Amino acid sequence: MLPTRLAGIAARRAFLMQRHIPSNANTTAMSATVRWIHRSQAALSHDDSKPDPVANAEGFDFNRIGLVGGGKMSEAIIEGFVTEKLIQPEKISVYDVSRKRLDYLMKTFGVQASSSLAAACKDSDLVIIAVKPQNLTQKLWTQLRANLDPKSVVLSIVAGIPMSNFVESTGNKRVVRTMPNTPATIQQGMTVWACTDHVSVSQRNSVAKFLSSLGEQHFVHDEQYLDMATAVSGSGPGYVLLILEALIDAAVHLGFARNVASKLVLQTVSGTTTLAMKSGLHPAILRNSVTSPGGTTASALYVLEQGRFRTVLADSFWSAYRRSLELGHMDSNVGPGRSRHDAHETDSHKK
Ligand SMILES: NC(=O)c1ccc[n+]([C@@H]2O[C@H](COP(=O)([O-])OP(=O)(O)OC[C@H]3O[C@@H](n4cnc5c(N)ncnc54)[C@H](OP(=O)(O)O)[C@@H]3O)[C@@H](O)[C@H]2O)c1
Repeated sequence: MLPTRLAGIAARRAFLMQRHIPSNANTTAMSATVRWIHRSQAALSHDDSKPDPVANAEGFDFNRIGLVGGGKMSEAIIEGFVTEKLIQPEKISVYDVSRKRLDYLMKTFGVQASSSLAAACKDSDLVIIAVKPQNLTQKLWTQLRANLDPKSVVLSIVAGIPMSNFVESTGNKRVVRTMPNTPATIQQGMTVWACTDHVSVSQRNSVAKFLSSLGEQHFVHDEQYLDMATAVSGSGPGYVLLILEALIDAAVHLGFARNVASKLVLQTVSGTTTLAMKSGLHPAILRNSVTSPGGTTASALYVLEQGRFRTVLADSFWSAYRRSLELGHMDSNVGPGRSRHDAHETDSHKK
């Protein structure tokens, strides 16, 4: 039976896409959009009484998937697998310390709730580690080492923990490190990922397929971009939400009712983002086009620059990057005024 939650996801997806179809969208983007909406409508109209076939599994190497940790990100991952029909839900086993959480995931998606880490790992050719970094304790590493099949691929979404830690602590050489973000919960995420040389080409393709079910994905050869991506896209939704909140509060300060302020701000940010994405133009060109000499926008931009808007954003990225390095017990003395100003160059020279 298709859980009701999935019909909701398909409807939400179709709604989001319909809202974002620009009148001048190019043919390729348009046909992708139409295909997406058709898939969503098919999911809505299908017969609940019959089991769903696994439609997109061709070229997907993983036959059984184990998840360690069943929190927010795991829920997004399960949604991606199930909505994109990459694998049947009953072939996904989840282990979480919270029985309540397991019951919820089982009821919502039809996945298997494992009573132990060993049960989640058993026969799984892809094991996803989705606990908080502080929960990766010695006890958990030991359990992973004892229960992981050396042939399985271990995929981590844990912020800051390098692939070498997984190789050394679990003995498993096929490691994928990813940095997703929370818009993955509506399949609008951005995931950056890297993997060890032991992950085969077809396994990489399957990982790319899986990550595409969460939104956009981007592979990097050099793992240090994962710590940078943590600062940009991983933590990014937090900064964007703070900016949205500040813009709404500023509009309320001017005198708008809060619901009107929210509508104006959300549509302005969403519309401008879509404009930048669809036009392919650099934001500076688009910004110049709305900045009349001596006008209102020029006035506001002057105040933002006076408040060091760009530098504050850059400093916040460096701070998150340093924190990600700290979580992985790496040298975090990077950034302007630090001993490693150009982190990338320094690390490349080290090799
Ligand atoms: N949320 C984000 O924006 C985001 C973005 C990118 C990456 N990440 C990464 O994704 C990972 C998961 O984040 P999340 O937001 O999904 O966290 P979360 O909602 O707290 O989920 C983690 C789950 O793992 C459970 N858990 C703790 N120890 C465990 C153990 N030994 N075995 C099995 N389950 C255990 C937790 O239970 P309790 O709550 O009872 O401890 C919780 O249900 C983190 O490493 C984070 O760095 C998160």
